[in-house]
Amino acid sequence: MSSMKPWTTTRIRACKGEQRIACLTAYDYATARLIDAAGIQVALVGDSLGMTVLGYETTLPVTMEEMLHHTAAVARGVEQALVVADMPFMSYQVSCEQALTNAGRFLKEAGADAVKIEGGRRRVDTVCALVDNGIPVLGHVGLTPQSVRQLGGYKVQGKQPEAARELIEDACALADAGLFALVLECVPKELAAEITKRIAIPTIGIGAGAACDGQVLVTHDLLGMYSDLSPKFVKRYAELGPIMQEAFMAYREEVESGEFPAPEHSF
Ligand code: KIV
Repeated sequence: MSSMKPWTTTRIRACKGEQRIACLTAYDYATARLIDAAGIQVALVGDSLGMTVLGYETTLPVTMEEMLHHTAAVARGVEQALVVADMPFMSYQVSCEQALTNAGRFLKEAGADAVKIEGGRRRVDTVCALVDNGIPVLGHVGLTPQSVRQLGGYKVQGKQPEAARELIEDACALADAGLFALVLECVPKELAAEITKRIAIPTIGIGAGAACDGQVLVTHDLLGMYSDLSPKFVKRYAELGPIMQEAFMAYREEVESGEFPAPEHSF
């Protein structure tokens, strides 16, 4: 169990070289409570919720209102974990003013502790604008799902030397701009190790090998509740999908047969 002091971005930053960071996605109150009770340091309200709980094909259609709604539910369920809200596609790319207005809503209206944005050096001005105004930022480079149309699919990034160099420069520029941590998604493990060595803030990997300072997984993947995509980097710690389906079937059968409700369920 973690200490009872709540996790802050300052504490997460100070974990570099001291303690590995465990991060999971959370989209609702009940899951947030369980994640928090398990001592997970960071609850990320990822825009992956567009796919895992809203049934969209990609994260692109996710709206600010949807993210605010789910972030508020997670914030209500958490006592210790840091709550990070993912800024949805086109809620921060247009201008620094747009990013500031929308990021501010996550802290003010939904109770988030920080926001996450995707992208490399072109996000430096945005990160500076947010951090200068008291909004902590988690960066996200490598495979950035909001750019799936440009990337041509969910592919490993930074495999060629030039692309690897670009990613290192992105990571350094973003870290200098004031991020408290950086997500590295789907990059070769050697590149992730190099970036982790070069920057002074924690790296949080997903499909980026074991050298990162922390790891993040999509909770629905870890629990075996989402099978539309199954990336190689996912480890399933449980198979809740079939267990849930069995429970639903047992319930339907008992309702149909009249076995449920039994006398003890009735007033
Ligand atoms: O949206 C999300 O869940 C994410 C994590 C996978 C990093 O961005």
